Amino acid sequence: MSRSEIEHVPVLSEVLMSLVDPRPGETVVDATVGHGGHAELLAGAIGSGGRFIGLDIDESNLARARSRVEKAMAGKSSPSLHWVRANFSELGSVLDELGVSRVDVILADLGVSTDQLLDSSRGFTFSEDGPLDMRIDQRLETTAADVVNRLEENELADLIFHSSQERFSRRIAKRICEARREKRIRTVSELVGIVCSAMGVSGSFSRHRIHPATRTFLALRMAVNHELEHLQELLEYAPRRLSVGGRLAVISFHSGEDRIVKQNFLDRKRDGVYEIRTKKPVQASSEETLRNPRARSAKLRVALRLASAQGSA
Ligand SMILES: C[S@@+](CC[C@H](N)C(=O)[O-])C[C@H]1O[C@@H](n2cnc3c(N)ncnc32)[C@H](O)[C@@H]1O
Repeated sequence: MSRSEIEHVPVLSEVLMSLVDPRPGETVVDATVGHGGHAELLAGAIGSGGRFIGLDIDESNLARARSRVEKAMAGKSSPSLHWVRANFSELGSVLDELGVSRVDVILADLGVSTDQLLDSSRGFTFSEDGPLDMRIDQRLETTAADVVNRLEENELADLIFHSSQERFSRRIAKRICEARREKRIRTVSELVGIVCSAMGVSGSFSRHRIHPATRTFLALRMAVNHELEHLQELLEYAPRRLSVGGRLAVISFHSGEDRIVKQNFLDRKRDGVYEIRTKKPVQASSEETLRNPRARSAKLRVALRLASAQGSA
């Protein structure tokens, strides 16, 4: 199936909209527009007096979201729409360029969309072979192949362990270094073979709850795209541009990301900058998970910007 045929189903949409509650005339940033599912709902709620700013680092997703939202808004009272290919860690300069000082809603729905994940030319999935790439933003220079072929054994082991808690990280790093002494590791199937041999598994993985290479692949993807660093930057910066009463919503799919969001919200709450709208992360109902298995690991946290001296621009 080609990438354009694969639909990304947005997660937790209903609860997101009720917690974030975008109102007519507000300014909304969807920092990860993807296929525009959340964007369509957000843009539809703010009406013609509102302003919608959509970001994505993937050019083709940005174009896809744009066409979806523009189509949905045609003939309706559309907010002003802005589409920027940018990393959400650059939110400040994006808003400066648009001449926007304050925003009322920021949404970050982290990670990759279903089509990116399943596109074998991107190297995120091990269900099909392809180049070991894993760049979400294809302007980046370093691919996953560069990482596995360049890092020292102990650096590789630390990277795999810290990002994904893979308990075989040392054995996997050792096997990677042995294999690359023979030839450069270039493809997904080569890396899968190396990981499986390090873990002493082979053949059918049906006995395992997750594929043995899942954690290693996740760790590499996070490293190639600096995912935790960019999330941290967005979280640090957001209160400087959120209006008083503004809402920040983050949907994460990985315990490392969720921990960072939780800690940031608690720290800002202690400073008097945020009120936390989600005491516990909101998760998908079993009905949503049945319809959209990707929703199973989604966790939504929402914070509300309070009037406080700290954290203001
Ligand atoms: C889970 S999808 C978002 C789906 C979207 N909410 C929807 O309704 O279709 C994540 C998107 O975020 C983008 N992305 C990932 N990291 C990013 C970053 N640091 N800055 C901007 N976009 C990013 C990916 O390219 C992908 O399109």
